[in-house]
Amino acid sequence: MTKQVYVEKIGEHVGEQVTVKGWVYNKTDKGRLQFVLVRDGTGVIQCVVFKKAVSPEAFEAAMKLTQESSLVVTGTVRADERAPGGFELDVADLQVLQIAAEYPISPKEHGIEFLMDNRHLWIRSSRQYAILRVRAEVIRAIRDWLDSHGFLNMDTPILTPAACEGTTTLFETDFFGQPAYLAQSGQLYNEADIMAFGRVYCFGPTFRAEKSKTRRHLLEFWMVEPEMAFADLDECMTVEEELVSYVVQRCLQNRATELEALERDTSYLKNVVPPFPRITYDEAIDLLKKAGVEVEWGDDFGAPHETALGEHFDKPVFVHHYPTQIKAFYMEADPVDPRSCLSVDLLAAEGYGEIIGGGQRTASLELLERRIQEHKLPREAYEWYLDLRRYGSVPHSGFGLGVERTVAWICKIDHVRETIPFPRVLNRLYP
Ligand code: 4AD
Ligand code: MG
Repeated sequence: MTKQVYVEKIGEHVGEQVTVKGWVYNKTDKGRLQFVLVRDGTGVIQCVVFKKAVSPEAFEAAMKLTQESSLVVTGTVRADERAPGGFELDVADLQVLQIAAEYPISPKEHGIEFLMDNRHLWIRSSRQYAILRVRAEVIRAIRDWLDSHGFLNMDTPILTPAACEGTTTLFETDFFGQPAYLAQSGQLYNEADIMAFGRVYCFGPTFRAEKSKTRRHLLEFWMVEPEMAFADLDECMTVEEELVSYVVQRCLQNRATELEALERDTSYLKNVVPPFPRITYDEAIDLLKKAGVEVEWGDDFGAPHETALGEHFDKPVFVHHYPTQIKAFYMEADPVDPRSCLSVDLLAAEGYGEIIGGGQRTASLELLERRIQEHKLPREAYEWYLDLRRYGSVPHSGFGLGVERTVAWICKIDHVRETIPFPRVLNRLYP
């Protein structure tokens, strides 16, 4: 039996005979020579099938290969600078598992609806492959950083009795006759967890019934949410910039090939190191007005505002102290100006806008009770949350980083739908 190897590690086997299992990515017919590009999930390698070097059956099989046919090839690894990936396989034997039917996705341009209908196949394309490998690295880097900086992973429920981020985007479901909602955020539970464990994070899918179609919104997206007891707004920003910088630098280090395949200009990313600029909402308003963007104090920022602000800086920028009226009910009040709250958004530059939302949470029972009333939230569902202010309330902060927006920015791609294997967007539940 020949040793089975993955293309990723093929360079360690130059001169040896190995077996690769995969799918035909492309094929060039040169008569007695068949060049078969095989992808195996870790990379692509050119396999050279020479008529005289294989059995007549194996050569016959090679002739019949179509795009995406599955196969097992055995051959000798040869270093070749001209080959994609730098290595080739001189094939000694080839076994076809299945000859693929005519493949619907070709290198020609396809419409987005067609590609979305075929997402289960589209993920095999080189661009999608690169993006989703960056995504996996982003997730791994986030966990590595948090796990090594004193944060304990505490998962939070998906089925919940109450809203965290406003009632307009709730997905309702039936919990044995009682309404339940898919989690918009794990934050409220994280706040309970930190009173037991100090620093925690949850990392999971979150759901928002967003009725608008934009390139930054999914109905189901993944969010990592760190939460910290005794941390104030400033410390929250410090943790955010360290985490984001680490994630970006890890991608530059471990996903250079993928970023190159995506033609990502990495000069901007190299500059993503702490500290990030920090400006107040008021300063942001001034900046926007100077830049000629129409805006009034009290407005929430939309894509044009965030783009204009991002363009002003050569790193992601923190905007903090937003008006209370445009933020969630749990934000701590600014002790200086009660119209503002201790909230912070991190805006990625290059037009990507908000990738993190967070801030300091209300520690006072009275203020929280008032906010719940002002936001017309059903108080019974939040009794347990109010308890956290009755039994050892402390100043605390946290944030949520959206994985898809972060990946879209790092890869510099247009739409978040390509940053998750099976995106859920408006009017689409298939595949
Ligand atoms: O600003 P948001 O709504 O904040 C929260 O949910 C807080 N409870 C988090 C916390 O403090 N623990 O969402 C946080 C981030 C956004 O900055 C964005 O990156 C992402 O989640 N996000 C979305 N990503 C894709 N599609 C959507 N519909 C998103 N909504 C938010
Ligand atoms: Mg937000």
